[in-house]
Amino acid sequence: MPTRSRRDIAPASGKLGVLLVGLGAVSTTFIAGVEIVRRGRAGNGGAGGGGGGSALPIGSLTQMGTIRLGKRTEKRAPKIKDFVPLADLKDLVFGAWDPIPDDAYAAATKAGVLERAHLEPIADFLKGIRPMPAAFDQNYVKRLQGSNVKRAKTKRELAEQLRADIRNFKKSSGVDRLVMVWCASTEVFITPGPTHQTLATFEHAMEHNDPAIAPSMLYAYAALMENVPFANGAPNLTVDVSALAQLAEDRKLPIGGKDFKTGQTMMKTVLAPAFKARMLGLAGWYSTNILGNRDGEVLDDPESFKTKEESKLGVLEYILQPELYPELYGKVFHKVRINYYPPRGDNKEGWDNIDIFGWLGYPMQIKVDFLCRDSILAAPIVLDLALFFDLAQRAGLSGVQEWLSFYFKSPQTAPGLYPEHDLFIQQTKLKNTLRWLMGEQQITHLGVEYYEYGEK
Ligand SMILES: NC(=O)c1ccc[n+]([C@@H]2O[C@H](COP(=O)([O-])OP(=O)(O)OC[C@H]3O[C@@H](n4cnc5c(N)ncnc54)[C@H](O)[C@@H]3O)[C@@H](O)[C@H]2O)c1
Repeated sequence: MPTRSRRDIAPASGKLGVLLVGLGAVSTTFIAGVEIVRRGRAGNGGAGGGGGGSALPIGSLTQMGTIRLGKRTEKRAPKIKDFVPLADLKDLVFGAWDPIPDDAYAAATKAGVLERAHLEPIADFLKGIRPMPAAFDQNYVKRLQGSNVKRAKTKRELAEQLRADIRNFKKSSGVDRLVMVWCASTEVFITPGPTHQTLATFEHAMEHNDPAIAPSMLYAYAALMENVPFANGAPNLTVDVSALAQLAEDRKLPIGGKDFKTGQTMMKTVLAPAFKARMLGLAGWYSTNILGNRDGEVLDDPESFKTKEESKLGVLEYILQPELYPELYGKVFHKVRINYYPPRGDNKEGWDNIDIFGWLGYPMQIKVDFLCRDSILAAPIVLDLALFFDLAQRAGLSGVQEWLSFYFKSPQTAPGLYPEHDLFIQQTKLKNTLRWLMGEQQITHLGVEYYEYGEK
């Protein structure tokens, strides 16, 4: 039985435009995947590819996941997409910006993530997605060069050009609503400063070409000014500054980030809570990666790597709470490395050596070797974020969407709150938020009602 009234949520009618900043490996794998899945559903071929069988949106909670409602004895577990009003895949329309002029077909081919058997049947569709000129500045992504860039005297003018792009896209594509997801390269490390405090200081800084305003902030600003929710898939500061967080609150728009939680960090946020749950100590965690795609090349620059490193390092500290357990976690040696190694392309190898200790302090080791595919793991996250941010806007949820921490390595929170990194706390938070939106009971896992001593 519903415990409270359902929140008013506007229906997901019409088309949803997904504006992607960056048309690289992640974006093209996402776009191509959605198109392959929807062609498969429509039954007009092109879905099988690769290993045969129909293509499924594997890794996407919104498409594959279910949600338990009510008591275990009720056996109610609808699919999430049938429970909350989400946009349907058939209603998604894509737009993108990139300083490299390749269309989505050329970009996907270069990225080398999906096989020809998947790309060829949808080649015409992908060729139709051409990147708009980017607000790009090489000072923020040192290893990239591009010709498809906007020119303007000030950063403010660049932001205005982005706003015009958004309006034009909305008009020409006929979409009803929009969301924006940053899937572009990792920018150099920037810390929040006085420039980022208020909208007035931020706008003043844009007008004066202040270096504290990175291109990603211009996209976020443009999105918010055009009433478009913004999600940040990279570790850049971007929308995690008070000026833009306040703008989102004022304009009643959802925002969130940072950095898609895909491979190594996902494993870390599963394993570390397990050690803590069993009160096993941790002496050290050495994580290293080899990666050969363009992202790896960008991260080979020490300033972009620093942004990524901060994002990857934060998780253990919050999960293990060394201030509460100094004997177990007071002296953890945590190291993260990313090495650019072209032969592997998008197929990253992430190694973890974990030194733990148990009863009376006896040491043990765990080795994890994750041979993953970066963009195959990231694409479903882009899809879920696009659909959930659109839902959040229709449900009137504004500001930081902490319930979507599940998807991020370095989740944004309200000021003064520490982030939850444990994947299963994040999952519970996400599902309970969906139940809350729909007026269903929260699931606490208490369960005394099933036993003699419990409440009848
Ligand atoms: N794949 C994963 O598992 C994963 C996980 C977490 C975060 N990320 C992040 O997602 C982002 C995308 O990853 P990718 O593998 O697709 O990288 P990629 O290099 O293939 O694509 C990024 C694209 O962004 C473009 N770009 C750079 N600056 C831009 C700007 N100012 N405006 C518009 N476009 C711009 C680049 O030209 C490039 O085409 C990276 O920042 C990466 O760190 C990826």
